[in-house]
Amino acid sequence: MKGIILAGGSGTRLYPITEGISKQLMPIYDKPMIFYPLSTLMLAGIKDILIITTPEDQASFKRLLKDGSQFGIKISYTVQPSPDGLAQAFILGEEFIGNDEAAMVLGDNIFYGHRFTEALEQAVENAKKGYATIFGNKVKDPERFGIMEITQSRGVTKVISVEEKPKKPKSNYAITGLYFYPKGVAKMAKEVKPSARGELEITTLNDMYLQKKKLRAEVLGEGFTWFDTGTFDSELDAANMIRSIQNNKDKVICCPEQIAYYRGWITKEELKARADLLKKNSYGAYLQKVIDETK
Ligand code: G1P
Repeated sequence: MKGIILAGGSGTRLYPITEGISKQLMPIYDKPMIFYPLSTLMLAGIKDILIITTPEDQASFKRLLKDGSQFGIKISYTVQPSPDGLAQAFILGEEFIGNDEAAMVLGDNIFYGHRFTEALEQAVENAKKGYATIFGNKVKDPERFGIMEITQSRGVTKVISVEEKPKKPKSNYAITGLYFYPKGVAKMAKEVKPSARGELEITTLNDMYLQKKKLRAEVLGEGFTWFDTGTFDSELDAANMIRSIQNNKDKVICCPEQIAYYRGWITKEELKARADLLKKNSYGAYLQKVIDETK
């Protein structure tokens, strides 16, 4: 399975900050925003990742993430010349995906919560069996998101409809920015017709899978934390939340080095090199603690 992080977009909602820096490189407390979606893909067991950026920001992402070997993964890069919709990512990534399943996570989406790894594993399984998977999270402002109308019985969630930012939402379940697809998603994405706002909508792509009875949904449980960090307030809220979870649990969450080490993708020596490089702050100290705890 391949993974894509879509980190394009003009970021106008965060001007003047994003006049000078890509939104997805901005800090969320102690790490760049993109570390969070990167960790999500790594938790799903994905080691081959394509990062899609604007043409002008690509160099900054390369400077930060390099070829991914410090995290035991392979990172490649491509550009989205203009923000023409989320489904376009699969067309841009067609060659990268090849004859494989593909997951995509939006570069500004943060996921943290109980049993998340299990939900990710389920989505990977679904993709191997020919099903797409979307993740729903209850919100109070559903008109801001893609929405899924669902029924739930005996632990099984069934999708009835999906709609992009409806004026009158049929449910409170936002479709989060994390999607898993079976083989052939690039071909499907090419069949997506632009919406009224001229974009290749991910919701249209999801609806195509739904019409073929190939769309499954996972509902993120009560107490699950999901942030779409697209505004000043949501960014500060996310940072505060991460800070308080980390201090409370005395750990660093969405730490790619730790995920890589626990999965055996990097050696203790490689982790030590990162810990030494970052040793001047709490992030580096945490990497050292991970090493010490596994002696
Ligand atoms: C996008 C999708 C929307 C989804 C959201 C999640 O919206 O179009 O369906 O609910 O991401 O973050 P955007 O944030 O690009 O407006």
